[in-house]
Amino acid sequence: MASSFTGIRLLQRTKYGTANARMTTWSRDYHTDIACSRIFYRSKAQIISGTKLAKEIRKEIQKDVESWLCLGNRRPHLSVILVGDNQASHTYVKNKIKAANTVGISSEVLLRPSNITEEELLDVIGKLNRDSSVSGLLVQLPLPEHINERDVCNAVAPEKDVDGFHIVNIGRLCLDQSSIIPATAAAVWEIIKRTGIETFGKNVVVAGRSKNVGMPIAMLLHSDGRHERPGGDATVTITHRYTPKDLLKRHTQLADIIIVAAGIPKLITADMIKEGVAIIDVGINHIEDPATGKTIMVGDVDFEGVTKKASFITPVPGGVGPMTVAMLLKNTLTAAQKLIY
Ligand code: GUN
Repeated sequence: MASSFTGIRLLQRTKYGTANARMTTWSRDYHTDIACSRIFYRSKAQIISGTKLAKEIRKEIQKDVESWLCLGNRRPHLSVILVGDNQASHTYVKNKIKAANTVGISSEVLLRPSNITEEELLDVIGKLNRDSSVSGLLVQLPLPEHINERDVCNAVAPEKDVDGFHIVNIGRLCLDQSSIIPATAAAVWEIIKRTGIETFGKNVVVAGRSKNVGMPIAMLLHSDGRHERPGGDATVTITHRYTPKDLLKRHTQLADIIIVAAGIPKLITADMIKEGVAIIDVGINHIEDPATGKTIMVGDVDFEGVTKKASFITPVPGGVGPMTVAMLLKNTLTAAQKLIY
């Protein structure tokens, strides 16, 4: 037995040399190889296209919006408050608005200067909370230092909180009750479910403990599949910046699923994983490409190295990112339909 997960390991001598094949619930290649009496090492992970999955989900949302309108309901509307001139935030907001338009959700961006006071910002949020034409509302983060982000997140009405950052939504998530789930965590969940990756009884490492990403992902995956908001029934270890690298490696080497949301390029390398692991890379890092000198976007995983051992992997870009935007749209429709509150 090769490991707790792999099940069966076979050795076979062929004209291609001695090969070593594993039969796992994730292995698609195995049966084909057996049929041909040729057993190979799995050489490449299946790359999960978040772009493709997100397109599928946007189509579903678009259909649901149309049905919702056909029943005589008001068009779902997303309001985004954007403070200051952080270029990354402007790009993220532009993508959210563009995606909303493609599914028939109307939207608006309320731009405010970086010197806005917290009181003024809370006032804008209050007005949108009271506006019945607004179904979903979010304040793009980060906010300038003089503004308390927690107070701002808690000022958004829970039923319009499409980010799922309000303390009531977070509390309900932690209690396995239905709630609006933060879009990145919902994206990771949806990727796992739609790809058919088994979580029941599996060993999961979540690298990163942020309240908006790592923590809600861990909450979803460890919790009970029979509860009001069903969870993944996995055994979950959360690691963070103070987890020594050798301890991180001991955990990741045992993991069936690794979710990385640490913001550290190449945090996870091939020597840290077991064969057949599924890896979801939530990292977004901008680094200089040593080959071209240009700035490129990379995740938290040494993609080249780990694809040789993993069963599944999400790329960066084109993995979790587009799925997160799709799940925000889903949250907006859910809020409009008042399915949670
Ligand atoms: N900044 C980075 N990610 C997010 C997000 O998911 N929501 C908000 N409001 N701000 C962000």
